Amino acid sequence: MQVSRSVFDDVMVPNYAPSKIIPVKGEGSRVWDQNGTEFIDFAGGIAVNCLGHCHPALVTALKEQADKLWHLSNVMTNEPALLLAKALVDATFAEKVYFANSGAEANEAALKLARRFAKDKYGEQKNQIIAFKQGFHGRTFFTVTVGGQPAYSDGFGPKPEAIVHGEFNNLDSVKALINANTCAVMVEPVQGEGGVMPATAEFIKGLRELCDLHNALLIFDEVQTGVGRTGELYAYMGYGVTPDILTTAKALGGGFPIGAMLTTTDIAKHLVVGTHGSTYGGNPLACAVALAAVNTVNTPAVLSGVNAKAKLFKDGLNKINEKYHVFSEVRGAGLLIGAVLNSDYAGKARDVMLAAADQGLMALVAGTSVVRFAPSLVIPDADIIEGLARFERAVAQIVQA
Ligand SMILES: Cc1ncc(COP(=O)(O)O)c(C=O)c1O
Repeated sequence: MQVSRSVFDDVMVPNYAPSKIIPVKGEGSRVWDQNGTEFIDFAGGIAVNCLGHCHPALVTALKEQADKLWHLSNVMTNEPALLLAKALVDATFAEKVYFANSGAEANEAALKLARRFAKDKYGEQKNQIIAFKQGFHGRTFFTVTVGGQPAYSDGFGPKPEAIVHGEFNNLDSVKALINANTCAVMVEPVQGEGGVMPATAEFIKGLRELCDLHNALLIFDEVQTGVGRTGELYAYMGYGVTPDILTTAKALGGGFPIGAMLTTTDIAKHLVVGTHGSTYGGNPLACAVALAAVNTVNTPAVLSGVNAKAKLFKDGLNKINEKYHVFSEVRGAGLLIGAVLNSDYAGKARDVMLAAADQGLMALVAGTSVVRFAPSLVIPDADIIEGLARFERAVAQIVQA
């Protein structure tokens, strides 16, 4: 049966407004739709496809595991889960790993753990969570409430309590909120959905100090920045500041759904048997693919390539801007890049994204005025150059409109 975009409107819940294009095949940083039209992918499935589409190492890992074992549940452990947990422990500050299926679930686990740790150690009253305006941590009711965008959390009845929001990159705002009852501070090293806004080193270091002073846990949500995106395996490594809990998803599976929460033994021990869980967490197929993704990304060649490619990318965007004067700033970290539309084009990020699609380029938005790019970490330089040429045509179209 041939399906078309109109079927979406017929049979799908209308919480998304997908593009009219239906991609059917991807290879590296190129994608083809039902009509055979080719696109260059600067979106990377929203920072998920860290190795592009159908990377041979991931395809092999998936196929090999598919012939062995698909699912057990957490009634039993499995080899891919153990190997992946070991690889994450070896590569990071973490001593313990919890597997989930998405970023929101990894964050849900992190927040529940922080609350439980504080309750066990200091008492019921230590339950306040500090997060940041414009932050994004997922769509479960707990994580969306911790996220700093009321538009996403309002309208669903009473919210989880004791959650407050400071100003991102403003330590004074955190000093005004933090107290003896704060159990955790949750922050994205680069606010992704909130506009591709990197945290300053001073802010991140200051959060660590404030958390230490008030016996609060520092949680880094690295769902969007993790697994090589910033040119480090995890962004915390670049800041030289170690969190107590780190969450990772998106690129972890390179396109296969998986999330994980990383922490220390001392903190992890508070999630005793029965306190938390998930049927699919640690699924062998997901873990086998994620192990291949982590092993492929965590190499000097790929990680230093991210910085070189990011420079090529940003230089290209700045050149386009010199010609068309559409951006006030091109910012980000590694290959998480935001081109901020200036006041003349404010609110037009979606128009730019749609114009790009018309030119054969997949891009993203972050809010209404930032065009976001999160391409494969191994995108060939030639694809960056060709993609930017297509993007320039899209920008020209917007400027002339
Ligand atoms: C920083 C951050 N945290 C959490 C999430 C939620 O992840 P998921 O959509 O896999 O639940 C996202 C998704 O965009 C994210 O960018």
